[in-house]
Amino acid sequence: MAKTFYVTTPIYYPSGKLHIGNTYTTVLCDALKRYKAMRGYDTFYLTGMDEHGKKIETVAAERGLTASEHVDGLAEETRALWDRLNIGYDDFIRTTEKRHKSVVQKNFETLLEKGDIYLGTYRGNYCMPCESFYTDAQLNEEGACPDCGRKTTALEEESYFFKLQKYEKRLLDFIEANPDFITPETRKNEVVAFIERGLNDLSVSRTTFDWGIKVVSNPKHVVYVWIDALTNYISALGYGTEADGNYDKYWLGDEVLHVVGKDILRFHAVYWPALLMALDIPVTFKLHAHGFYMMKDGKMSKSKGAVIYPDAVLKRYGLDEVRYFLLREIPYGGDGVFTPEAFIERINYDLANDFGNLLNRTLTMINKYFGGSVKPTGASTSHDEDLVSTIASVKDGYVLNMDALKLSQALAEIWRLISRSNKYIDETTPWMLAKDEEKKDTLENVLYHLAESLRTIGVLLRPVLLEAAPSLFAQLGVPQHLQTFESLTFGAAKNYTVVKEPVPMFPRLDVDAEVEALRAIIAGVEKETVEREAVSIDDFDKLELRVGLVVDCEPHPNADKLLVVDVDIGHRTMRVVAGIAKQVSPKTLKGKKVVVLTNLEATKLRGVTSEGMLLAGSNEDTLEVVTVKDLRPGDIVK
Ligand code: MSP
Repeated sequence: MAKTFYVTTPIYYPSGKLHIGNTYTTVLCDALKRYKAMRGYDTFYLTGMDEHGKKIETVAAERGLTASEHVDGLAEETRALWDRLNIGYDDFIRTTEKRHKSVVQKNFETLLEKGDIYLGTYRGNYCMPCESFYTDAQLNEEGACPDCGRKTTALEEESYFFKLQKYEKRLLDFIEANPDFITPETRKNEVVAFIERGLNDLSVSRTTFDWGIKVVSNPKHVVYVWIDALTNYISALGYGTEADGNYDKYWLGDEVLHVVGKDILRFHAVYWPALLMALDIPVTFKLHAHGFYMMKDGKMSKSKGAVIYPDAVLKRYGLDEVRYFLLREIPYGGDGVFTPEAFIERINYDLANDFGNLLNRTLTMINKYFGGSVKPTGASTSHDEDLVSTIASVKDGYVLNMDALKLSQALAEIWRLISRSNKYIDETTPWMLAKDEEKKDTLENVLYHLAESLRTIGVLLRPVLLEAAPSLFAQLGVPQHLQTFESLTFGAAKNYTVVKEPVPMFPRLDVDAEVEALRAIIAGVEKETVEREAVSIDDFDKLELRVGLVVDCEPHPNADKLLVVDVDIGHRTMRVVAGIAKQVSPKTLKGKKVVVLTNLEATKLRGVTSEGMLLAGSNEDTLEVVTVKDLRPGDIVK
């Protein structure tokens, strides 16, 4: 029977659109799943959404939605994004689903009965965005949240506690007995140091909000979001229910891997195994914590406008380009930087120049010199041996790195073969061989060697390049049974018949123009170069835009990003709630003549009804409300 491989991403918070960082984790797991499947494993890939908590409730309210409308929308959006990235997940769990809630509730009651959860009082500094309490000693130098740096509030509340301390020794023993439980090694050391400093019992319930899973025996409490979230890894497999076949098969199977970012290491390396131990569930998983995608100036930050959303990048450059870059640019154990220059260079050098050209040159020569078909002839050159041994060593190096979750290095191995093959062309000079009729067999043998090398490259790239690998096989004429990992021995293909008209795979990009276009994408600025779907004039005509005089402007009573603006539009005064409070002061807006979209459906934003929208433009540095000089309130703008 095939060995099993169960791989999971963290479940994502629907607090906003997912960015390139979250996309990285998901693509990484996808490549691992595809690699394991290629190696003959029976695989199961789980991803999903972490939909409870105070923060989600707040974000939903800011959008004028109920929490469930909000999370439904974002779950849809997220699945659509994973579909565009061709993510081969097998299940998508949402913590608001019944199948999940019932497992969380049951586990909580089990732990209460066992005495591993008890009722107490929590006093501490509460950080709302992180939904965590901190002791005074845990706060950072500025007395703020040690994780996100924001201000905390002093709170006291009744809370259930999980006896984390009780598991301190068992956790340390477990980590010692399973040296590859946490990778990379540096992360493991951090975890050990953290546990050795001493663990406190963990507050595992909240009474300050409702949007969560209720504790069955005391419904004024909701389960702390992390206990809720971590349980997804088993609830999705049907743990504790009658339909627990996947739990037995995958959780208790051969390999279980949680992939997470370094930010949530502690939750997975300490809380999760301790909980499993308390529940008498075997700790079968291994944990890999990867680094972060950073921007040139530091962390990705939505508020600073320094964040990349994958949609626009995907649309402009393509699936394989994005997947390749993401997996190539984060070194094992470290962070990666997403710069427009690096992105375009990776496409131009690695994909277009090195890989695309190798394929294209080989196909062109097979067509030109042999009418499209080659076979081995035995007429060797002095360079063949080295190429053949590189093919073998690259395959081994690739396997070692993939198994060790070093995807960037595994890709570097493939590129070692690509470079070696390009060099082989320079060394054997097929265009010179072609001039000599007696060298015909040698030339054919050279081209056969290149085809075999390309076949290997295609197979090893299968988990990463989802369009280019099949295209390579189609163009080179590689039948299905020679696209497998097992078929990777030199000489397995008896001959090749290639397409008559090769299609270049990764056209070279104009560096300056594309760097500029990417910068615009990052800044979220819709420049001409960033294409949007065309709309008809009739669509545009539906909008009613009018000049309005700002007669009053106040900060929103319940939201610090919003302004409440009263605008005279000639025949009446309307109220608009605008998300510009961070950039525009109410005083400067009062008395200005602005442009208002007056026929927008009314919506409530944090309790205040907004009837329209102010036009404003923005870039990475500034936001400016559009104003007019001589027009009068009520005038139509077209
Ligand atoms: N909901 C929790 C996870 C619960 S798992 C039981 C959560 N969600 S999250 O949406 O905030 O982020 C999830 C993950 O996204 C991070 O752990 C990390 O894997 C990934 N990343 C977020 N920003 C990232 C980068 N800038 N770069 C790489 N990965 C990043 O935490």
